[in-house]
Amino acid sequence: MLAGGKATRLRPLTKVTNKHLLPIYDRPLIYYPLQAMARAGVQDVLVITNPEHAGHFIQLLGSGREFGLKLAYELQEEAGGLAQAVSLAASFVGNDRMLVLLGDNIFTDDLRPAVERFTAQASGAVIFGVETAHPEQYGVIEMRGERVIGIEEKPSAPRSNLVQTGIYMYDTEVWSHLQGLEPSARGELEITDLNNIYVTAGTMRCETLEGYWIDAGTSHDELLAANVEVARLRRQGEI
Ligand code: DAU
Repeated sequence: MLAGGKATRLRPLTKVTNKHLLPIYDRPLIYYPLQAMARAGVQDVLVITNPEHAGHFIQLLGSGREFGLKLAYELQEEAGGLAQAVSLAASFVGNDRMLVLLGDNIFTDDLRPAVERFTAQASGAVIFGVETAHPEQYGVIEMRGERVIGIEEKPSAPRSNLVQTGIYMYDTEVWSHLQGLEPSARGELEITDLNNIYVTAGTMRCETLEGYWIDAGTSHDELLAANVEVARLRRQGEI
């Protein structure tokens, strides 16, 4: 579970706190992806966050018992990108496969069937796509039939409306792929570059989400939209 970063797009809300601790209706943002982990049948979760706020996460989430999870914590000393944060999970994950969730993504899908499909496949990785009206804010997926042929991070001229959400599944090859990554123009190790290694190898699969999804960390408007929609979904018992 990635919960680091600087969240500059949400300033001043994130000047003294971490975006994943901000309220979404009646609970902090990070509760939603943690509940999604539990729904997916995952039991052991590593929360990766920045040193300034790690104590707050431990105070808030503790052992994870409340969620039916066993939580561990890891510090990302600097916001070196999503792929750099993922690399910090190596010893925690060991020889298992891994489900990565971005701590600012809220969604209603139950990932358990997708976890089962991934467990049944020999190797590779899985991304989860949604159609959006503003693909330029995300990693844009290009498909040819059922095959993923490329992912472009925040392109000014998106090749499709299909974007990757903050849900990723990786086999054990991920650790060697991570070692080969170079920082991008903005100085970060990008999850899109990691995913494109699987795309090039022909081992990236894309599934589509069917329920509600939002990246609440994109802007103040998305944060507000997440609050409004999650309030409605919670009243209906859908999340
Ligand atoms: O939400 C889906 C999108 O997430 C994808 O479509 C993009 O391809 C992917 O790059 C990512 O884009 P964002 O612009 O939303 O990334 P953001 O900087 O908001 O970081 C995503 C999560 O990762 C967030 O929960 C914070 C955490 N993070 C971020 C950085 C840069 C870390 O834990 N460490 C970091 O160094």
